[in-house]
Amino acid sequence: MSARLSLTRHGPAEGLPLVLLHAFPLDSRMWDAVVADLTGRDDPVPVVTVDAPGFGRSPRARDLARRLGCPDAPSLRTYAAAVEDVLAAEGIDRAVVAGLSMGGYVALALAERHRDLLAGIGLLDTKATADGEDARATRLRVADQATGPLGARAVAPMIDTVLSPATPENQPDVVRTVRGWLEEAPPHGIAWAQRAMAGRPDRVAALSGLDVPGLVLRGADDVSSSQEDAETMAGALADAEVVVVDRAGHLSAVEQPEVVAEALRALHARCA
Ligand code: MLT
Repeated sequence: MSARLSLTRHGPAEGLPLVLLHAFPLDSRMWDAVVADLTGRDDPVPVVTVDAPGFGRSPRARDLARRLGCPDAPSLRTYAAAVEDVLAAEGIDRAVVAGLSMGGYVALALAERHRDLLAGIGLLDTKATADGEDARATRLRVADQATGPLGARAVAPMIDTVLSPATPENQPDVVRTVRGWLEEAPPHGIAWAQRAMAGRPDRVAALSGLDVPGLVLRGADDVSSSQEDAETMAGALADAEVVVVDRAGHLSAVEQPEVVAEALRALHARCA
């Protein structure tokens, strides 16, 4: 496997790309329905999906870090550098970048260190503030569990928190799919990503002075990123649209893909 992130292009080859960065501990499959909507209409959007280090078809973070000259210690800065690297290898030096939750943390890391790449930013079910001590300790515990006998079962309880209470009744297939993704999550990827997220700093300031269109979106029932988190990010951006998605929790793009696709399409149109 080459030491570059796995990238897939969808829809038209020409035009400003919309790069989608997925949530933890999933991979780019979580965008499938959103991508189908964005690329399946009369005015298709050029979309690029990227798998996180150690997830999907991407190589492990330590191999990426070595090739990119990044520190070995898990960091979302390494993930951001690897995104810029794989986009550059594709000839992409400007894009609208949208990330959900962990993907949003990486979009924020791009805003901090790779600002010229961004023609627009989408921050979905995410937050720009750092973790408190308790959240950090929980992440480090889950990281240790994932590399021990528990493996991917360390993240199984997430099924109880990432979806809207409306989803099990209205969309039981979504619950089955997400549960399957959690079971398939690679233990080494879980551990690396949890340690990287535990170490992320507050990045509200990275949004100030980012003079490009922004979208801040959250599921109305998201218990991981609050309305206050969304308002903090929107307040720091120069030009932000805020969207709240009904009947969606933390995984809004999986629970209500058409609504999320519409918001992303509108963001892309503001940037193109
Ligand atoms: C995610 O969905 O990416 C995670 O909830 C991120 C996190 O653990 O903060």
